[in-house]
Amino acid sequence: MKKLVIFNWKSNPHNAASALKLARTVENSVFAKKNFEVVIAPPFPFLEDVGKVIKKVKLGAQDAFWEDVGSYTGEVSWHQEKHLKVKYVIIGHSERRRYLNETDEMINKKVKAALKAGLKVVLCVGENSAIRRRGKKAVENFIKNQLQKDLRNIGNWKSEIRNLIVAYEPVWAIGAGRPDTSEDALETIKFIKQTLNSKFYILNPKVLYGGSVDSKNIAEFLKYPEIDGALIGQASLKSGEIKKIFTIDKFIF
Ligand code: PGA
Repeated sequence: MKKLVIFNWKSNPHNAASALKLARTVENSVFAKKNFEVVIAPPFPFLEDVGKVIKKVKLGAQDAFWEDVGSYTGEVSWHQEKHLKVKYVIIGHSERRRYLNETDEMINKKVKAALKAGLKVVLCVGENSAIRRRGKKAVENFIKNQLQKDLRNIGNWKSEIRNLIVAYEPVWAIGAGRPDTSEDALETIKFIKQTLNSKFYILNPKVLYGGSVDSKNIAEFLKYPEIDGALIGQASLKSGEIKKIFTIDKFIF
């Protein structure tokens, strides 16, 4: 099975020229690597330009508003993104939950709208350090609660739900240079898969790991068949890291 690798550029880089350079590096690095599905999620202003220089790599967005068009100042809709050939959309990233007060109710609306529009949705869930300190059961309860709220009323969406991907991103590991252990991430990902299966009737759910993934540790995570890929932030902005990430074939396939 192909592993899904998503590069989340967040609000980087500074300008379109740098974005294009980075996008070309990714495109050239995945040359003939059939074992990966690779997605770049650039900031909105660079979507169109990046879309023009990638062929093997797919285009992703970092968010999508739930309405298609209208008076929603500052928002970018799934409809507009589809025109730019966006195929994947990240929804509910912890930075949006934290800095923009995005609620589970808003995330649920966005997930539903994007799935209905035929986009592949990457829903981010994960606990903060205070919850983690309370132990495994607390982490599982927190994530189950997030899934229940974020996926409210989509349990019977048989065809659309196939496009749902979940990214397990422990908040304390994001941008920290200190990832979760692959053993712990595996346990939580198994729990997420069971929950998606039993509560939402998703047969073979895809779940990624995210949080300080880089070229040195990515194989540790992707070697497990249950971990379907990685959502990568900081390392996806460094051309050296990008090239090395796609040399891990021999360790995991
Ligand atoms: P990081 O970010 O790889 O820089 O930890 C991951 C993410 O936020 O998706």
